[in-house]
Amino acid sequence: MADLKAFEEELRKKNFAGYWQTVQGERYREPAATFAPCLWKGKELYAAMEKAGELLGLESTFRRVIQMKHPALPTGTTHTLTLNLQLLKPGEHAAAHRHMAGAIRFITKGRGARLVVDGESFEIGEGDFATTPNWSWHDHVNEGSETLMWLDVLDSPLVRMLQVDFHEPAPEPHQRITRAEGASYAEFGPLRPSWVRSDSIQPPAYVYRWEDTERTLKSVGERPGDAYDGIVLNYVNPLTGGATLPTFNCAIQMIRPGEKTLAHRHTSSTICYVFRGCGTSFIGDERFDWEEGDSFVAPLWQPHRHENNHKEPAILFTMSDAPLMRALGFYREQEEKG
Ligand SMILES: [Fe+2]
Ligand SMILES: [Fe+2]
Repeated sequence: MADLKAFEEELRKKNFAGYWQTVQGERYREPAATFAPCLWKGKELYAAMEKAGELLGLESTFRRVIQMKHPALPTGTTHTLTLNLQLLKPGEHAAAHRHMAGAIRFITKGRGARLVVDGESFEIGEGDFATTPNWSWHDHVNEGSETLMWLDVLDSPLVRMLQVDFHEPAPEPHQRITRAEGASYAEFGPLRPSWVRSDSIQPPAYVYRWEDTERTLKSVGERPGDAYDGIVLNYVNPLTGGATLPTFNCAIQMIRPGEKTLAHRHTSSTICYVFRGCGTSFIGDERFDWEEGDSFVAPLWQPHRHENNHKEPAILFTMSDAPLMRALGFYREQEEKG
């Protein structure tokens, strides 16, 4: 034994490691997330954001953002994604930059600010969803009279894990507008100019309007839906119909009054934000009763199901790293027998 210890020390000094030191033989293994199911209270989040609005100006923080930081992770909400809330007051302008992390916005309060992405200006309001694909220039301008708050989701924990964290401030704080307003709707819809290519791995920047989301929810709301998730509308890449971004997918999920979904588990992790209504989710061994403004996470391979025992539909905005897991051949899904 003493000989083995001395040998291991000899290996360590030479930057070697014996297989016997790190791996537990041929034992059965399956994923065990290092972060537990977790819920962040919306009332606490919005109260904290109000305080951040009083205490912090954009000159000191660049973006006024509060992260749903999982206590078991060094950064982020899951090991691949981060969910943040951002606040932009009337008259404020968050300066332009770009980065390797891909981002989306889901507006939770207010109307009338603009996201400028790669030279196109998009007006945004409550319930709208916007993509800022990786390496696209983006700045946020609020020339309206309302304070806006929105969710930012980024794949920055993944980008950091892979150590490819490029980040660049723009030469000028305001982007020049180089595309006409509405150009994206004209170019990336089902009636498409022949020169628009759809073979890029990144989707174009795009805004999905709440009025369209709401109309589609009404139209398909009586269908059977998904056994594990109820009614789900995916924010697809407008050019390919694929995932929202290559690394993660976003969706609107409706759990109808009286609906109880079946339990399953998968190798992707899901973050849910409660946009409307209330309900209950069972994740692993834990029960989470949630209401408007709350966020919660179902880590990979944890069984989960949802219930709505209330009179109003519950509407969740959800984010999942399933596209990443699928692209790598790591996606697995399993029904859990209750
Ligand atoms: Fe950014
Ligand atoms: Fe699921």
